[in-house]
Amino acid sequence: MKKFQMLINPRDKRGIIRPEIYGHFSEHLGRCIYGGIYVGEDSKIPNVRGIRTDIVEAFKKIKVPVLRWPGGCFADEYHWKDGIGPKENRKHMVNTNWGGVTEDNSFGTHEFLDLCEQVGCEPYIAGNLGSGTVEELSQWVEYMTFDGVSPMADLRRRNGREKPWKVKYLGIGNENWGCGGNMCPQFYANEYKRYQSFCHDFSGNQLFKIACGPSGGDYNWMETLMNALKPQHVQGISLHYYTVPHDWDHKGSAIHFTEDDYYETLAKTLPIDEVITRHCEIMNRYDPEKQIALLVDEWGCWYDVEEGTNPGFLYQQNTMRDAVVAAMYLNIFNKHCDRVRMANIAQVVNVLQAVILTEGEKLVKTPTYHVFDLFKEHQGAELVYSHLENVTMPEKNLPMLTYSSSLQDDQVICTISNCSLKEEAEIFFEVTGRKAAHCKAEILSGEVHDHNDFDHPDVITIRDLPASVENGKAKIILPPCSVARVILSE
Ligand code: AHR
Repeated sequence: MKKFQMLINPRDKRGIIRPEIYGHFSEHLGRCIYGGIYVGEDSKIPNVRGIRTDIVEAFKKIKVPVLRWPGGCFADEYHWKDGIGPKENRKHMVNTNWGGVTEDNSFGTHEFLDLCEQVGCEPYIAGNLGSGTVEELSQWVEYMTFDGVSPMADLRRRNGREKPWKVKYLGIGNENWGCGGNMCPQFYANEYKRYQSFCHDFSGNQLFKIACGPSGGDYNWMETLMNALKPQHVQGISLHYYTVPHDWDHKGSAIHFTEDDYYETLAKTLPIDEVITRHCEIMNRYDPEKQIALLVDEWGCWYDVEEGTNPGFLYQQNTMRDAVVAAMYLNIFNKHCDRVRMANIAQVVNVLQAVILTEGEKLVKTPTYHVFDLFKEHQGAELVYSHLENVTMPEKNLPMLTYSSSLQDDQVICTISNCSLKEEAEIFFEVTGRKAAHCKAEILSGEVHDHNDFDHPDVITIRDLPASVENGKAKIILPPCSVARVILSE
């Protein structure tokens, strides 16, 4: 067993951890929307206006703060007017990106914004720059947010919604260096400026406009955007980072993997820290006041699809490996909260590193869901200094523990994961200027391949973790392959 001394200084505050760091992403892809979130009003599965009740409850439990929609690559082929009005009149389209299936547009703007209202989260609309028009995007904003008399506001009213919605987050294009139009950064920056000029703040609604940022370490894309765009044009720049254990042609199985694959998956995740740091260095040069946020609006593990499923649907299982990876990402995002003000795991249901899987009426919460549950106390808290002398594991030179700490309502919250598959970690907590009288700890742990499925939904769930307090110092023992949350109070 390895011993660690964690020092936490609640007076050394490092910025607010925006709730939106715990955001999610939903795309018209596979069974994310249809079957996963939306089943239609006539379904036997309990629903409110077609939206699954169990999904809404599960989202509320982890306090989903923001949901991005309708894509992804789908966003740059989506024409919002096809998804409004009487369902029988809605146009059908081919979902060319994801399996070539027919999209009947029965889930559109009204349904998405209804979902956000039921959950109580912010909507994040991803607009179409790649194949849409400036007018189309401008009208979408007017349709959703204008309270007065206008062609789009009147159309909304005719479709049954009198009052406008509040829509803060507006993405203008997605992956425009790839599926969103194969553009070079300067061309995209010019297009972005033109589109954003016609997206107006109506009726007290204030848009937070998001430009399509780079994939991983494409620093030239970031440099070009920061050079071209000013804070009056853009409030956030996105970043996409996926963990692909091997390579894109052989990503590896979600459940059948070796120890080496496990450590390789972590080794492919850890560089997100440096990637964020280097993008922030570029942003700091152009925007030292940090007016423009970095939003990691797609992140997560991407494996081969489950055997027998449609390769275009990106359906994969989710094990304790994913829980440890999610904890690594989220602890890193917390530590960059001065610039990283939103992150959206890809994706929320039935796609990639999903937090929820569904099959008909059945619903399973994955280990990644439980990580979001453990970390939810960080939402809106203040990041505070915390440090321990980490151990470097011989496997891929990885740190044994990942962690971050925050302060909320005078309680210190520390989330910590043990990445080792062999060693236990004994951790003592010292809180500067305080004696920890109470310590409540909870844990997610298991064998690295353990996962929840429809017949065994509770293999991995959150349990209490014994914690002791001696001489004002709390102590826990973390088993291998685990994620924990420790709450310390006086
Ligand atoms: O999340 C799946 C896809 O990954 C998204 O549609 C796209 O933006 C990214 O390449």
